Amino acid sequence: MANQRPNPNEAFPNPNLPRLCFIKNVVKNPRIIIGDYTYYDDVDGADQFEKHVTHFYDFIGDKLIIGKFCAIAKGVEFVMNGANHRMDCATTYPFYIMGGDWGSAIALVKDDLPLKGDTIIGNDVWIGQNVTVMPGVHIGDGAIIGTNSVVAKDIPPYSIAVGNPCQVVRKRFDDELIELLLQFRWWDKSIEEIENLMPILSCCNVEKVKAELRAFLQVERIKWMEQRFNNALAAIKDGAAVSLESIKEDVAELSKYYGSDLWKQDFAADEAGILPPDLKRGVLSEDGIWNLLSDYREIQKKYGRME
Ligand SMILES: CC(C)(COP(=O)(O)OP(=O)(O)OC[C@H]1O[C@@H](n2cnc3c(N)ncnc32)[C@H](O)[C@@H]1OP(=O)(O)O)[C@@H](O)C(=O)NCCC(=O)NCCS
Repeated sequence: MANQRPNPNEAFPNPNLPRLCFIKNVVKNPRIIIGDYTYYDDVDGADQFEKHVTHFYDFIGDKLIIGKFCAIAKGVEFVMNGANHRMDCATTYPFYIMGGDWGSAIALVKDDLPLKGDTIIGNDVWIGQNVTVMPGVHIGDGAIIGTNSVVAKDIPPYSIAVGNPCQVVRKRFDDELIELLLQFRWWDKSIEEIENLMPILSCCNVEKVKAELRAFLQVERIKWMEQRFNNALAAIKDGAAVSLESIKEDVAELSKYYGSDLWKQDFAADEAGILPPDLKRGVLSEDGIWNLLSDYREIQKKYGRME
């Protein structure tokens, strides 16, 4: 049977709900950068998202960057830097905008416009109805912005913020779960992995989610260190100075890992038989790392140039 999963490269993922639009497929301006699966929800034209990015001038060159898997509700307004007139001159009136002979007046103010930089929205951010986001604001991964808020300052990840001015009312989770989610970055996984993760991403039992994320992160860490271990081993066998030079960072990371509690935790998990049976784990063999590091030291001495 053909694959039925929503296609991130189509504007309207659900033919029965044309109010939902994957907006990366409809924005034209290259300074608006949108991640996969981020949608705008608007019965009055979800594909008109770009009209909600205002005061967005090429001569300023600022960008609106929105991550993956964000939900953006009707009536959002991303106010960009062109909205800010100079306030320190005798007038705030922007003569240059009118063009014609006045166009050159931009030279009088351009270098000192009150620019706030790019607007950056993280991943898995939920922006409620009629929210206004001011220039240069950063909204962290997993944040929620309440209906009708005016976001004028940065909002930290995994917080709920409301009002005008938009202020954090609470964190969504305890610090440990926030840290695990920020490390895990589920939105960067392949879509097949995300589909497998859906039960845990949709689970409200915080302790269960923490335990699963810890286990996932542990396996990812072991795979990553295993890769570094194999690189280093291959370079040491090869013995050429150039390949040894290229693994300095791998060996430094491995030394750090072996000197940390993380390795002890991974080793203990292996002993307890709770790691996936097909996981390659040469990196958890004490002899393996010992030989690797002592070989490396020998080669360092031989070449006298690897410190
Ligand atoms: C932000 C939001 C998610 C908070 O939900 P909640 O956790 O159930 O919030 P509560 O009702 O417990 O409110 C917490 C506090 O924030 C205040 N508050 C909630 N939403 C607010 C808003 N949009 N603006 C101002 N204050 C708000 C509440 O009055 C309450 O204040 P208090 O602590 O002084 O009593 C929700 O209010 C909201 O705005 N949802 C967005 C809905 C939307 O626009 N959806 C669009 C379709 S995707």
